[in-house]
Amino acid sequence: MVEARRIPLQCLAVALTLHVAVIGGEFFKPFNVSYDHRALIIDGKRRMLISAGIHYPRATPQMWPDLIAKSKEGGADVIQTYAFWSGHEPVKGQYNFEGRYDIVKFAKLVGSAGLYLHLRIGPYVCAEWNFGGFPVWLRDVPGIEFRTENAPFKDEMQRFVTKIVDLMREEMLFSWQGGPIIMLQIENEYGNVESSYGPEGKEYVKWAAKMAIGLGAGVPWVMCKQVDAPDDIIDTCNGYYCDGFRPNSYKKPTLWTENWDGWYTIWGGSLPHRPAEDLAFAVARFFQRGGSFQNYYMFFGGTNFGRTSGGPNYITSYDYDAPIDEYGLLRQPKWGHLKDLHAAIKLCEPALVAVDSPQYITLGPKQEAHVYRENKSRCSAFLANIDERDSATVTFFGQVYTLPPWSVSILPDCRKTVFNTAKIGAQTSVKTTECSLPLSTNVSVLQQLPSQDKVSLISETWTTVKEPIGAWGEDNFTVRGILQHLNVTKDRSDYLWYMTRIYVSEDDISYWEGNSVEPALMIDSMRDLVRIFVNGQYAGSKIGRWVKVEQKIQLKQGYNDLVLLSATVGLQNDGAFFEKDGAGFKGQIKVTGFRNGDIDLSDSLWTYQVGLRGEFLQIYSIVENGTAGWTDLTQDAIPSPFSWYKAYFKAPDGTDPVALDLGSMGKGQAWVNGHHIGRYWTKVAPKDGCQRTCDYRGPYNSDKCTTNCGKPTQIWYHVPRSWLQASNNSLVLFEETGGNPLEISIESHSTKVVCAQVSESHYPPLQMWSHPDFVNGKIPVNEMIAEMHLQCDDGHKISTIQFASYGTPRGSCQKFSKGNCHSPNSLPLVSEACVGRNSCSIGISNTVFRDDPCHGTVKTLAVEARCVPSQSIGFSAMK
Ligand code: GAL
Repeated sequence: MVEARRIPLQCLAVALTLHVAVIGGEFFKPFNVSYDHRALIIDGKRRMLISAGIHYPRATPQMWPDLIAKSKEGGADVIQTYAFWSGHEPVKGQYNFEGRYDIVKFAKLVGSAGLYLHLRIGPYVCAEWNFGGFPVWLRDVPGIEFRTENAPFKDEMQRFVTKIVDLMREEMLFSWQGGPIIMLQIENEYGNVESSYGPEGKEYVKWAAKMAIGLGAGVPWVMCKQVDAPDDIIDTCNGYYCDGFRPNSYKKPTLWTENWDGWYTIWGGSLPHRPAEDLAFAVARFFQRGGSFQNYYMFFGGTNFGRTSGGPNYITSYDYDAPIDEYGLLRQPKWGHLKDLHAAIKLCEPALVAVDSPQYITLGPKQEAHVYRENKSRCSAFLANIDERDSATVTFFGQVYTLPPWSVSILPDCRKTVFNTAKIGAQTSVKTTECSLPLSTNVSVLQQLPSQDKVSLISETWTTVKEPIGAWGEDNFTVRGILQHLNVTKDRSDYLWYMTRIYVSEDDISYWEGNSVEPALMIDSMRDLVRIFVNGQYAGSKIGRWVKVEQKIQLKQGYNDLVLLSATVGLQNDGAFFEKDGAGFKGQIKVTGFRNGDIDLSDSLWTYQVGLRGEFLQIYSIVENGTAGWTDLTQDAIPSPFSWYKAYFKAPDGTDPVALDLGSMGKGQAWVNGHHIGRYWTKVAPKDGCQRTCDYRGPYNSDKCTTNCGKPTQIWYHVPRSWLQASNNSLVLFEETGGNPLEISIESHSTKVVCAQVSESHYPPLQMWSHPDFVNGKIPVNEMIAEMHLQCDDGHKISTIQFASYGTPRGSCQKFSKGNCHSPNSLPLVSEACVGRNSCSIGISNTVFRDDPCHGTVKTLAVEARCVPSQSIGFSAMK
């Protein structure tokens, strides 16, 4: 049973590329999609479907094939994405379907991998995306009111939805054309806000449904979280758990469009993690109780490149704690545990689709079984223990089963358990750019992983140029009164300068001196950020969403220049009427503390300047025209707010994903070779609120298992490989507060350590149940043993085994120790099987270890291995 394995993912990726080249348009024999109350019916057959959420613009086209292959390898049948209107129509009437917005290419890659596509057109998508996916110009359409019975809005919405449906049809991407698209979505969670729109909201839902159906796309449409979805649209569930959900008609199947397997993060927040055991429990419960389609939101979250993150205040990473991490690497054990779960569900699929509704059996106060039995021939069952504390021993069809707390056991033949959601057999992987170990084990203690790699500074030589405070361009203009931020910027930049003058008399000065009064600037209400400058000097700033600002300022006699920099940090993407929220200032702006009362600046003359000079000159682009005025940066010029910095760097060797450590910087934006890698902000999360342990048991919420308290929310920023060349890459940063670019470093992101812990009592590998030798009876059940599987990232190999013990080892990854019972063969055997290889499998049995180190005791194998890039393994270590 000690055997080496091939590298399946690499092979898949290669196969995929070839396939696209050869076939081009048609991916399947044309097939129809319909549904009944039990499931989607694909080509005449009910199906149990696993779907993986991947948003194409949150990765690069170069990453797509691998992400799709890893989703498939993890057991997905379907890829789900939104369509991102703001990316496809950045200027009204000017469409963009290129690069990261090449939705056709993405759909074709999905099809060529043999997967289906669920396309959620929205076009409102929420998604933590700037303005919920709406292009910002939409708010300037005369008379428009979003997401309600409003003709201008409905016209625009219909135009975009039609555009996408037509494009998909032209490209032959619907199932009945042999394409991958099996399902669409119109609107998004409108049910959450519908009541705010009164009767018009109800009418809008009917209109949206009718409009969508009228496009003749020929596949089913869903509306998520829409209890009043009309007859011909399937209402679906979004949430952490959806096993209690039923659609609004018996004619419709139970579909789960968003299973939140993690959560998003705000600047200054801690990092959420959803334990793999709880996620698997939620999915198993869903299929147990009659569900038939489940999508992970997100299977790969990716990155909010540029200024695409929504808000306010959503960070650039959209990692989401998803099974595939922000960089495209497997997050273990989450990915592996779900892969096993999906394999178990697939073994049940024939019985699940054969039965209209399961038989329900009570097994105890908090234990229940659902049995899917068709005549005598097919039977699959799910046994659940929803007790949050204790395991339970239950009797089911005459056999005794022990069910861990908050878990589901899956019995594809109604007799033997092939999988339990609380028992993880999959490996844990540790990457250096993650600050803490993944939270996954039952009650795991968080620990810091010191970075083993030496810091690799991006450059020692930098150039800099100052960004002027206030007006810099000829397009500034002066009007009376305070304009709403978005009305002026149209979101062409985060930044808007507001400038005015305040006159101070000699009397005022002596009044302040005589009465110890200090004048203060008061702004009734502001969002998302304001920085205040008086006479060229920085006076203070405020962050928040419609918060009051009160800032003491120093004024001199005569005219004083007041400059306010208003900045957005991702536009609002949810809530009723969110388009009306705007940004900048609301109410009065005044200066208090004068003898004769406050000075109201609300009706003063204000000068406006949109954006930064550097943005206007595009000094981040590769072909910058030389007018920026870069000068050499000297150490003593740091820190300096409102500065641009530029350096050139060499890409790390190899093909691993790359990350920049911007932890030495303050707040700003960064570009690599002209590509906007996103906003950065070294804002620190509150010290408190993270748990030392993460208990998977009991209902999850996004505050339950957070890490990174007291540390900056994000310091690592993804630079996609395809944006880099070997050397001479430019990095340009705009820094608002005064960070230190000299300390910026670069790293390749990869799995450095893999660990696993599997005991004799674990279930055999899932794929064995469908192995021809087992099916043909050549391998008897009692010869099926548990196996440990270890795998490094593609292009990496196991260099050393740091720890191996077959016996009764203790501890967890990176803290294993030998117990009383230990086989001396452990290390030599595991090394023999694994060192020099990308992946290896080891059977957990005395036979394999040629030893029984403690007769009568259940043995466990615990292993910790180190992964290194394949090229760096010397000849002597190769097998
Ligand atoms: C849902 C929404 C998604 C996303 C998610 C949170 O309510 O439909 O688009 O915003 O919440 O990540």
